[in-house]
Amino acid sequence: MRTQVAIIGAGPSGLLLGQLLHTAGIDAVILERQSADYVLSRIRAGVLEQVTIDLMDEAGVGTRMHQQGLVHNGFDMLFKGQRHRINLDRLTGGRHVMVYGQTEVTKDLMEARQLAGLTTIYQADRVQVLDFDTDHPRVTYEKEGKTHELACDFIAGCDGFHGVCRASVPRSALQEYEKVYPFGWLGLLSDTPPVHEELIYANSPRGFALCSMRSMNRSRYYLQVPLTDKVENWSDEDFWQELRLRLDQEAGQQLVTGPSLEKSIAPLRSFVSEPLRFHRLFLAGDAGHIVPPTGAKGLNLAATDVKYLFDALREHYLEKSSAGLNHYSETALKRIWRAERFSWWFTQLMHRFPEAGEINQKLQEAELDYLVHSDSGMRTIAENYVGLPLNFGL
Ligand code: APR
Ligand code: PHB
Repeated sequence: MRTQVAIIGAGPSGLLLGQLLHTAGIDAVILERQSADYVLSRIRAGVLEQVTIDLMDEAGVGTRMHQQGLVHNGFDMLFKGQRHRINLDRLTGGRHVMVYGQTEVTKDLMEARQLAGLTTIYQADRVQVLDFDTDHPRVTYEKEGKTHELACDFIAGCDGFHGVCRASVPRSALQEYEKVYPFGWLGLLSDTPPVHEELIYANSPRGFALCSMRSMNRSRYYLQVPLTDKVENWSDEDFWQELRLRLDQEAGQQLVTGPSLEKSIAPLRSFVSEPLRFHRLFLAGDAGHIVPPTGAKGLNLAATDVKYLFDALREHYLEKSSAGLNHYSETALKRIWRAERFSWWFTQLMHRFPEAGEINQKLQEAELDYLVHSDSGMRTIAENYVGLPLNFGL
């Protein structure tokens, strides 16, 4: 089998890239280790920046998102028992975010791909990316006990943090930067109305909490928990009780509880691998970087990597120019580091660090207090939250 672009991974990065390439008439095959159902069962964040909304439209898959996505013009920051609204609309000159789950984004992309008759090979085992340092890269994989080979012009490594692509690059050719945080997020999904019509990010003496949603009758909540906690030791009852203790009185009273549909603990990590290009292999999304979830930048960053990579591939095929491909790594990394900085900073601001000590605690409170009483402070949060423009600082 032969294709122009072999995409490894059918997460949001791989699927979005496949769809964008299709709009430009560029052929791609996606190889995914898991089944489609498994990919759709993973619960991830769901706050889309305008650039991501635009990309879904550019890929021709924005209809359901516009019908069902919830436009949010602000969110609340809660500390010392008081909520302070970050008015995104006012602070950014009319920009906003859209609440639409990553699962829905993935589903829309999968359906469009299927409708267009494009090839995705699910449950592709032992994927190997080969010869990407030559002009004739190829990918091998096993399916139903047989080995197959896919020859291609380029390989797009969209296979997430634990994928095979980054792992196939010689260690000496990349530099990795990593910070692991001393806590995790325990998430709970339930068919209950959200406690508030906008998101609440809470820094309480008992730790961070987040009130998010998927729709007006499906809520997503998170609690900061020690890394040693086990999800099976958290009953739904315990979760709701702890959440209530971390919210203000009004929210605590309004909280509607119910059985969990899903509950899991995720670690928090900041991670960047440089560069993102190895001759004919390109990394995009979680394959190249991870942000802690505070601020919901993961999916948006994956989408903008894909936008840069798509533009570069289109330039290569349609305009016979390799300028975009040559600049991809540098361009994408600039935006990645800015989002890494914001996610790290917002994580530091909103969580209780086990070994912080009293002075750091006081400094954190003073910073929060300053930020919500200063228009410049709130604007700094707002402009990063809605997402920096694609060409920011380039
Ligand atoms: N072979 C084939 N597929 C693989 C392999 C492999 N060896 N390893 C991993 N994959 C697949 C995974 O099963 C997964 O479906 O690659 C896909 C990667 O998807 P994601 O992890 O969702 O990564 P990405 O598409 O970059 O999406 C980034 O997801 O993790 C969140 O916060 C992140 O929202 C962001 C988004
Ligand atoms: C979510 O809804 O899952 C979510 C929202 C905002 C975040 C992180 C996660 O910052």
